[in-house]
Formats: sequence, C-alpha cells, structure tokens
Amino acid sequence: MDLVLSLDRTATVPLYQQLAEELRSAVLQHRLQPNQKLPPSRILAQSLAISRVTVTQSYDQLVSEGYLETRRGAGTFVCAQLPEIYLNADAVEPQPSASSELIHLSRFGSDLLAARRLEGPSPQARISFRYGNPATGLFPMALWRRLLARHCHTAPTLMNYSADVAGYLPLRQAIAQYLSRSRAVRCCPEQVIMVNGSQQALDLIARLTLDPEDWVAMEDPGYLGARYCFMGQGANLQPIPVDAAGLEVEALQQCPQSFKFVYVTPSHQFPTGATLSLVRRLALLQWAQHTGTLILEDDYDGEYRYGDRPIPSLQGLDRHNTVIYVGTFSKILFPGLRIGYLVVPIAWIPLVRQAKWLCDRQSAMLEQYALTDFFTEGHFERHIRRMRHLYNQRRQILVTALREYFGDKVTILGENAGIHLMTKLDTPLADEAVIQRAASVDVGVISAQGYYLKTPKSGEFIFGYSQLDEMEIEQGIRRLAQVLKR
Ligand SMILES: Cc1ncc(COP(=O)(O)O)c(C=O)c1O
Repeated sequence: MDLVLSLDRTATVPLYQQLAEELRSAVLQHRLQPNQKLPPSRILAQSLAISRVTVTQSYDQLVSEGYLETRRGAGTFVCAQLPEIYLNADAVEPQPSASSELIHLSRFGSDLLAARRLEGPSPQARISFRYGNPATGLFPMALWRRLLARHCHTAPTLMNYSADVAGYLPLRQAIAQYLSRSRAVRCCPEQVIMVNGSQQALDLIARLTLDPEDWVAMEDPGYLGARYCFMGQGANLQPIPVDAAGLEVEALQQCPQSFKFVYVTPSHQFPTGATLSLVRRLALLQWAQHTGTLILEDDYDGEYRYGDRPIPSLQGLDRHNTVIYVGTFSKILFPGLRIGYLVVPIAWIPLVRQAKWLCDRQSAMLEQYALTDFFTEGHFERHIRRMRHLYNQRRQILVTALREYFGDKVTILGENAGIHLMTKLDTPLADEAVIQRAASVDVGVISAQGYYLKTPKSGEFIFGYSQLDEMEIEQGIRRLAQVLKR
C-alpha cells in the first residue's frame, strides 16, 4: 500500500487517533477504495515505526465507526458501503424529489406543503424598495459587541438551564416600564414573556387557542406571517376589510360566527399603514368584551410615528383582559436578533410560560442581558430617536419623489408612520407588468396583491424606505415613473 500517512510524534493527540484520522481521510478522499485490503497491522507498524498495538487500536476504531471491516482469515478491508455517504450532507447532491416521498404528514405538514412560499417578496434590484428590515448598518454594533462581551464574562446563569423560562426579569422590568411610557401598555414585568420574535408569539397563542375549523378574524390585506401561522393550526380565516381608519370594526360586528380571536396591527396596519382610530379601538374592545373574543394586538413598529403623538395601544385601553399584546425588537434593533415579547393578561401567565417551555425551553440569555444594559444605560431610547429622525427624513423624500414624478397618478395610503408605505398607482398596467418594468431599470417594487385574502386590488404597491438613502429613493422613483410612462 503506497499511501502517505503522516504522524506527529510531538502532538498531544495520541498516535492511534492520528493514524485513525489519516486512514479515515484516505477512505473519504478515495485514496483507499471500497473493498481495498489494508496492510497487516505488523507490516504497517514496521513501516511507520510505531507499535503494532497502535495500529490495531486505530483499525479497531475505524471498524467500530464502519469505515473498515475485518474478514475472517483474510485481513482488514475498507467497507464496501461507507458511513460518510450517509453522514456527510455535502456529498449528497440535492435531487429534485417528489412530494409523494413525504409520507405521514400531519394536517399542518400537508397544509404547509400546499402553501406557497411563506416569506414575502424581496426584490433583488440595485434600488430595492423591499420592506421589513430596519437600517441595520446604523445599529451601534461596536457598543452591542461590548455589552455582549461584558456578559460573556459575568453571567453564569447564561450557561445553565436555570434561567427563567419567561426571560431575564430585569429586561422584562425595563420593557414593562418602556411600554407603559411609550405605548400606554398597562402591565407588570411578570406579564412580559420573552420569545424569539413576534412570530413565536403568534405561534404560541395560535397553538394555545385554536382547534381545527375555529374562526379567526384578520385584517384584509394583512400580514402573511400571521395568516399562515393561524392556517397552520387549521383555523378558518375571516377577512375583515381595512380602510383609512384601520380595521372596519362594523364589518367585524356583522359577522355571524364566533371568533377565537381577532388579529390586528392597530398602530400601523400591515401593509396599508392605516392607524386604527380611537373610536374604532373603543368599539373593538367593547365588541370583544361583549362577544368574549380575544384580541391579538401586533405592535410591530409602533415606535415609528412621525409628527403626532401615538394613540395608546389597545392593551392600554382595555379594562377586561381581552388583549394579548405582541412586541418585537426586529424593527428597532435588528430582526436577526430574534427577540420579541408577549404581554399577557395575568391569568394567562402560567399557561404561556408552559407553552414557551415546551416549545424551546427559553430564549437565549446572552442577548437578553446585553439588551437590558442597552435599555438601562439609555442607548435604546437614543437609538430610537436617531432612527425615527432618519426614517422620517427618508419617508418625506419618498413622498416628495412620488408626488413629483407621479403627480395625481399616485395616492399615498396610510399614516405618517412606520418604515414602509403603501401607494395606489393609477396605471393601466397589471401589477406584474409594473414589477417587470421596474426590474428592467434595476428597481424592485412589491405589489400588495399577495396580502389580500379576499379579492386583491391591483395598482397597490408597498415601498420600504428604511435601507435606501436619499439619492437612491429619488432615483428609484424617477426611474419607475419614467419606465411606466413608456
Ligand atoms: C405585521 C408584522 N408583525 C410582526 C413582524 C415582525 O416579526 P418578528 O418579530 O418575528 O421579526 C413583522 C415583520 O415584518 C410584521 O410585518
């Protein structure tokens, strides 16, 4: 066997392990072929000037791992079938596979299989008006790194199972105070339960409340992450239209069926940008109390209002424990952080804690420690102030550009808030044609059609502006207007 095997006698790794590693690599790299005979241990030991026991130890290890096999009276051979063929995912070519291979699926699994892609569109253009991400480049990463490093050294509970399933209490205290100040949410820290982003909050509540065929009322158009989550539990969805004052509560009141809950984004309706008026908030709360329906309030970007004072959250107006409030740090800090929270009525605390435990035991602690300092040292409010100013500017530039280049062919929907806006474009073109023409000049736009449950309206487009600078926004809208005029 003319195989090069290099062993380092000065290394701390035992020789038999080194030899096993060398032989394993030779097998995986096909320098040793399946069924090839290995030299007798005595011969290999002599040629490597090591003890025979060392060779037999490494052979034994590779036999136990399934790389080698001993054939009685014949010697040691490379196995015909190698474990890595199954273990090493890199070696497996992705093959188009038939969905018929997926057997034993639950109803949830089958529904997911039949569903379209879950993520919303994210056009890959030089100037992409994709929405959702904040301006992550402006996040104070050096500071964040310092805060993380601080707790890597100091927090033993980070490493154990001993953390509170509902999250780090000082962080929940900071969040409760912040929500009370800025969103008029009324809660004690124990009601705040940390989760991995709002998506997990929606999932936990859906799982705790929905049985197949239960009814959920949803804004139409609405958030896909919520829609698919509720559908995944087998719920029937009742679309409720949205106008300039948010969810049409009168339409909800006229529905004959009883709902497990109604899902709303009252601060900044997704995707239209409408704010649920105070009158409708009160009507919704009254209806919920009267019908015994839960309200799931998703306040995903309520921090970003430019101009007028925010209307208090539904949770803050509620006096009958009908609201479960969901918040996230995805839009303020960054979505990859995966930190969000639920604020649940007191009676729900033990149940939601149990559900969270069963789901994933707890959220990661290191980031929660860092986030607590980010709050208590004032960085959080400073960062919000800075980003609010920036997004306000970007929004005004977008609005000005839309008005300048589209004139009376554009209606801007929604309030002066958030990190995206929705428009109605007066164009004879189908939405797909608008998207294609935009793409031809390297501009990415998103149609709102996919967000409708009932009858999609055409000509409505969503423009995210958080990650584009002034020039890009202006240029993108100019190019879009020009290419649509052709
Ligand atoms: C309506 C709505 N809710 C919640 C979220 C945030 O989800 P998460 O906290 O899981 O990142 C988004 C993000 O785009 C959203 O649009």
